[in-house]
Amino acid sequence: MGVDPVPWRDAWHEALYAVDRGFYVVRGGPAAHFTTAAHGPTGAALARALLALPDHPVRVVVDLGAGRGELATHLVAALEWSVPHAPDRTEPTTRPAGDLEWSLPHAPGRTEPTTRVVAVDVVDRPEGLDDRVEWLRSPGGAALPDALHHLDDALVIAHEWLDVVPCTVAEVGPDGVLREVLVDASTGEELLGPRLSGADLRWVEQHWPTSQPGDRVEVGLDRDRAWADLVARVGSGTLVAVDYGHTAPGRPTRGTLTAYAGGGLTVPVPDGSCDITAHVAMDTLDADVVQTQRDALRALGLSGATPSHELATSQPLAYVAGLERASAEARLLDPDGFGGFWWAVKSIQRAVVP
Ligand SMILES: C[S@@+](CC[C@H](N)C(=O)[O-])C[C@H]1O[C@@H](n2cnc3c(N)ncnc32)[C@H](O)[C@@H]1O
Repeated sequence: MGVDPVPWRDAWHEALYAVDRGFYVVRGGPAAHFTTAAHGPTGAALARALLALPDHPVRVVVDLGAGRGELATHLVAALEWSVPHAPDRTEPTTRPAGDLEWSLPHAPGRTEPTTRVVAVDVVDRPEGLDDRVEWLRSPGGAALPDALHHLDDALVIAHEWLDVVPCTVAEVGPDGVLREVLVDASTGEELLGPRLSGADLRWVEQHWPTSQPGDRVEVGLDRDRAWADLVARVGSGTLVAVDYGHTAPGRPTRGTLTAYAGGGLTVPVPDGSCDITAHVAMDTLDADVVQTQRDALRALGLSGATPSHELATSQPLAYVAGLERASAEARLLDPDGFGGFWWAVKSIQRAVVP
């Protein structure tokens, strides 16, 4: 052992968010190390779908855990230029004036978009970011910036945020007792510590009971609390957490703690050299609906269907664009890929003043 072992949650937080050496603070944006659905053509399709989710006026879109603003940039582009892709929905593509503050293309009397898009992450505003995207610096992990509050008519998106909110890691020892896992932050070497107790233990008993020696639990309490804090900052609107995770029928047994750096998987050592992530217990979040991304996107009308061959001759450019969109949608829907992600959606109605 190099340094005194500490609880995984503490080492993890320091490793990712320490102001002077945290992985996400000093090692470039996530896109320098791994690809997410927010990047490239899938990001454009995802942005359109997310904007189609709320059934209420939206005046502000918040992208929490924004990386370097990749999804936020797709969101402003989609707000300005794209139709939310919802062919199966019964609502009209032209909404009544004053309903949505962003305009839908091809709608008569289209107005300029006025919906704000605010991206939030743990660094200062990235150079070269689209100037239509507002930027807010955050402390990181479970902590949110003070300036993020009183969000009304909001769409709040947390795409792959909760999996990097550090949490307690516990393991059932040979004696059948669930113990907190400690880690040497310089080597990643682990040691079983004290019995799990208090609120963490109560969470496990309720949501992820196990006494099988060797079983590991990534205790969701810190993620539940971080999400609850985000929810509390919304006066009215829709929140959606998109992440890889699990629900009660499919809890993992041996843990999902994983690390990424420089484009590949690596051993989780909480020394600031790599991203450290663990799947999220999505069904313990305070949400109205928890479903796979595939189901959520299908409900929004995404099909991944390719455009008709007639379009290829009548409008070749539209055909090529349609092919690109279909391919991006198919990747988002793929049950063995992004489609297997989970969406937890929470709606908050504006309080009625009597
Ligand atoms: C896995 S990356 C995902 C980035 C982006 N959403 C995407 O899907 O490509 C997680 C991001 O969340 C950010 N993050 C973590 N905790 C945060 C917090 N409390 N506030 C804002 N950003 C946070 C990290 O800095 C990192 O950029």
